[in-house]
Amino acid sequence: METTLEKPKANVAEDFLPLNGTDHIEFYCGNAKQSAYYYQHAWGYELVAYSGPETGVRDRASYVLQQGKIRMVLSSAMHPEHEISKHVLLHGDGVKVLALWVDDARKSYDETTKRGAQGVMEPTVYKDEDGEVVVSAIKTYGETIHKFIERRNYKGVFMPGYKVKKSGVETKSVGIKHVDHCVGNVELGKMNDWVKFYEDVMGFKLLLTFDDEDISTEYSALMSKVVSNGSGYVKFPINEPAAGKKKSQIEEYIEFYHGPGCQHMALATDDIIATVTELRKRGVEFLNVPEVYYDEVWQRVGKINEDVEKIKQLNILVDRDDEGYLLQLFTKPVQDRPTVFFEIIQRCGAKSFGKGNFKALFEAIEREQDLRGNL
Ligand code: FE2
Repeated sequence: METTLEKPKANVAEDFLPLNGTDHIEFYCGNAKQSAYYYQHAWGYELVAYSGPETGVRDRASYVLQQGKIRMVLSSAMHPEHEISKHVLLHGDGVKVLALWVDDARKSYDETTKRGAQGVMEPTVYKDEDGEVVVSAIKTYGETIHKFIERRNYKGVFMPGYKVKKSGVETKSVGIKHVDHCVGNVELGKMNDWVKFYEDVMGFKLLLTFDDEDISTEYSALMSKVVSNGSGYVKFPINEPAAGKKKSQIEEYIEFYHGPGCQHMALATDDIIATVTELRKRGVEFLNVPEVYYDEVWQRVGKINEDVEKIKQLNILVDRDDEGYLLQLFTKPVQDRPTVFFEIIQRCGAKSFGKGNFKALFEAIEREQDLRGNL
């Protein structure tokens, strides 16, 4: 498998924080070894590197998994007082790091901290026989952080401290290619603060706004704004709960995560039918919309190139905007707490986020919330 990621061309000229894309997403988990098996077996990620006691790292174990340009790091601690253990105790398994791939981790740190970001790691150089990686980090919502990863002088598989390790299970790709967007859930009244953070501190632009008129059902509502970096490679929608008759899905998340955090990551595929067929076969659970969704959807979105019977059979959602259409589907939470989940998305021209599906989707989420006794 190809493990070196190809760098995209061109960034915006005056962008003070040019980003090449998402470098990796790190989960803090209770049992990274078993999570790594789940992501290899069910999701088709390939294990490419490992760091832990066997490689001289005494306090933690980290597994680096890759599929297409998506890189996930799963980490567990060896001791109860470790920051990973504390994070897991409070939040359950969750996303700690949304790492961004940059050409200059020092400048990224200086430019963002100068604009008000709270630094959590000053630029640090890690070296081994394959070269060097420079890493710095700043805080974002909750306990989540953004790392800036500069790897232009590195030719190893991931980072110094990690050794190449291959999957012990046979892995078969499900066709996911890259991270499309990562969504954060923040507390009531805090969405605009975080939008401002991304605008002022990281130079992002507001792309879209959804208010509770767009996203409300009988029970719950939410508000959402999407920010994007200059190149458009990195998109972060930010959600906050809105008033509804009962508890919104964002409140449920915040209650069980014990604070703001990453709600979902959308992974892009070129063939959602093949991807979802495989994922379902391997036991990945998705939210299902009722059959009646398909009674009106084709009137709303018009003609698509895919087999509409298959789309219906796999319960894939469809939406259209001015530029084209998109196909998407959401998993159920991937841990016992009703917190983090994934989205599978295939964009056929559309650059939006599936607004037309919000109502059907949130009703499906509420049915799940109700089953958990959290509505
Ligand atoms: Fe999404």
